[in-house]
Amino acid sequence: MTTTVITHIGSLVTNDPALGDGSPLGLVRDAAVVLDGERVAWVGPAADAPAADTSYDAGGRAVVPGFVDSHSHLLFAGDRTAEFNARMSGRSYSAGGIRTTVAATRAAGDAELEANLVRHLAEARRQGTTTFETKSGYGLTTADEARALRIAAAHTEEVTYLGAHIVPPDYADDPAGYVDLVTGEMLAACAPYARWVDVFCEKGAFDGDQARAVLTAGAAAGLVPRVHANQLGHGPGVQLAVELEAASADHCTHLTDADVDALGQAAGTTVATLLPGAEFSTRAAWPDARRLLDAGATVALSTDCNPGSSYTSSMPFCIALAVRDMRMTPDEALWSATAGGARALRRSDIGVLAPGARADLALLDAPSHVHLAYRPGVPLVAEVWQRGVRAV
Ligand code: NIG
Ligand code: FE
Repeated sequence: MTTTVITHIGSLVTNDPALGDGSPLGLVRDAAVVLDGERVAWVGPAADAPAADTSYDAGGRAVVPGFVDSHSHLLFAGDRTAEFNARMSGRSYSAGGIRTTVAATRAAGDAELEANLVRHLAEARRQGTTTFETKSGYGLTTADEARALRIAAAHTEEVTYLGAHIVPPDYADDPAGYVDLVTGEMLAACAPYARWVDVFCEKGAFDGDQARAVLTAGAAAGLVPRVHANQLGHGPGVQLAVELEAASADHCTHLTDADVDALGQAAGTTVATLLPGAEFSTRAAWPDARRLLDAGATVALSTDCNPGSSYTSSMPFCIALAVRDMRMTPDEALWSATAGGARALRRSDIGVLAPGARADLALLDAPSHVHLAYRPGVPLVAEVWQRGVRAV
């Protein structure tokens, strides 16, 4: 195995407090990282770095763990420019637009769906994302959901079955029949490709009882729950996620004090994943990250990349929004976009740069990670290394 030392790193975020200055980010100045194949072998001050087969000069740039985008919807065809235009002229967002994407996705061939996925992944990678989760949810027939997950599974280990995205038009008169399908034949066809099961628990999508049925059936089939919860209004999603020990409650925009307390209590189990691209793109009120952090919740940041509510693949953009508008500090936002995402995916090998971790990292054209929020919209990600190999 070849070892490589990346040296002359101006500022390094390890996310391991034991390795750095004692802060949660485990910051090391004038640092080096030694990679051994696809793993990190050593991290510390450049002056103490052990010898390696090859050496790479970071030129004083900042290095952060690759971003972990733990919530996206990348198996789709078509786009919803018209809906976005209407919204920016004053129309409000409703999940009904999902139907437009379902029609386009059903009509697309496998090659087109996969090409779309690959294009979005390359776009995300250029912006520093090295791990991503993605979901079905725009097929909503057994065959269309299963093929979306089969295509996704060829590109990531983090695949989520979201047959319960909305009740499709073909079941408009029989929502109970659709829940039976999602928890029966469709689940059986999809479970082999997926690690997670998700449900859109919201007025106009699935209520608390339906969501519970979907998540418990998914769990019985070996999938771990996560929940689209409390995005458009108050509802039972967050409490259900906590009760079922879901890996994450995602969106968390409309929370009661009891919801916030529950997420604080469940910090070791259920991560509150905030998706500021959705509030940006639907002109909705921001989720309050500060309130969750102060209650002790574990917070992740993700893009929610999808053609309707949040068509961004940019984790740096989400970090900037979270700092500017959701009362997160730049340090908290960086942690949430890396280690927080890893927690939401129940992974300890990513989101951190410590010995044994996967060698996934981004070099920034900036003296520190703070510039991601301080210089919004500027393409600061200069290089991306994935599994020890330079990918961008
Ligand atoms: O996470 N909330 C449900 N699903 C997506 C939106 C999907 C769409 O509008 O196409 C979300 O925001
Ligand atoms: Fe989503």
